[in-house]
Amino acid sequence: MSVNEKAVIRGLRDVAAAETKLSYVDPNGSLYYLGYNIDDLIGRVVYAEVAYLLAHKRLPKKQELDEFSRQLVIEMNLPDYIIESIKKAPRTCPPIDVLRTEVSHLGEYDPDSGDLSEAANFRRATRLIAQVPAIVAAINRIRLNKPPLTPKEDFGLAKNFLYLFKGEIPDETEASVIHRFMLLHADHGFNASTFAARVTASTNSDMYSAVTSAIGTLKGPLHGGASEKVMDMLDDIDLEQDIDEYIQGLLDEKKKIMGFGHRMYKAQDPRTKHLRGIVEEFVHRERSLALYNRCIQIENSVYEKKKIYPNVDFYAAVAMDAIGVSKQFYPLFFASSRISGWVANIIEQYEDAVLLRPSADYVGEFGKRFIPIEER
Ligand code: ACO
Repeated sequence: MSVNEKAVIRGLRDVAAAETKLSYVDPNGSLYYLGYNIDDLIGRVVYAEVAYLLAHKRLPKKQELDEFSRQLVIEMNLPDYIIESIKKAPRTCPPIDVLRTEVSHLGEYDPDSGDLSEAANFRRATRLIAQVPAIVAAINRIRLNKPPLTPKEDFGLAKNFLYLFKGEIPDETEASVIHRFMLLHADHGFNASTFAARVTASTNSDMYSAVTSAIGTLKGPLHGGASEKVMDMLDDIDLEQDIDEYIQGLLDEKKKIMGFGHRMYKAQDPRTKHLRGIVEEFVHRERSLALYNRCIQIENSVYEKKKIYPNVDFYAAVAMDAIGVSKQFYPLFFASSRISGWVANIIEQYEDAVLLRPSADYVGEFGKRFIPIEER
């Protein structure tokens, strides 16, 4: 029995928890950053421009972008204590756990992490937008027993990220892909990780704590962990397998098809077409073509059976595979892009200055007689 009979909105479905000016997820299949449709931004702006747009709520002028990009590249140089700490982390744990720890670690060394003034928050936001991808790249290098690299002054943040991660200078296609990939993942309304960040920020806790909450939330397979599971599924399907039968088998077992469905979209996720398009740029390669063909068949089969569409994570998996990212790192590429949305949302939450604290509908018991421990 419920005490106060408050209506429980299970999963907070359709609950608007706060106002935002940052991004609008249109259920009919569009996504806007500060009023700009992503379809109009993609391929026309570099990722740093989107990060600036989210942080400053306007597009930068050329000189502002140059200065912001320069600052980001400087901040990509990681402090020694982070590199040493990554080296000590177990190689067996998921790399996203290492990222989560190192972001928390950064907070220990920020002498004014409790200063929530606008200037301090912008400084910290810029640092985190640069340091999250730099940490991801360092984790990969260290796991490959290779030394972390130094960012190149003449590359922007996104190209440097791929360079630091792979240890090879990205070609023109790869550089263009990473900018578009990061743009598409930059922000997305009150998704679970952003909401987690905003709950933490709503207590006036510091930005590192809020981003640590966000990374922990992103990790789950119902959110940013889905793309890794997509690749597990693609690896699991052998060449001779009938895709329809495989999908039906999963549905019969009441399993969710990873990379499909979305809480917000009633139509196609607007990011999917761009990620599918990125994959199509690589179909001259045998592996990408085989994965792409499997994806198209899965997409058709799932739509036929469940009338649901792929979400951002479906083709993102194959896009990352095409640029040489191993699947354990997929959620970390997501985090390296979403960091720009997280910090912008954290700043917006500080401005809103309200504690996010819902109530619960208590359905437990009352009036139980206490029994001392010796008598239980
Ligand atoms: N596979 C099979 N059926 C699905 C899937 C799926 N991936 N997603 C939704 N459905 C079905 C549900 O079974 C349900 O069907 P029913 O009405 O016949 O019972 C219906 O679609 C509605 O689904 P809900 O679970 O109510 O949707 P919800 O909004 O709660 O969940 C979620 C959304 C978590 C994303 C879900 O679609 C899912 O688990 N997808 C797989 C994991 C995934 O890809 N996550 C990434 C999401 S995007 C992102 O975070 C970046």
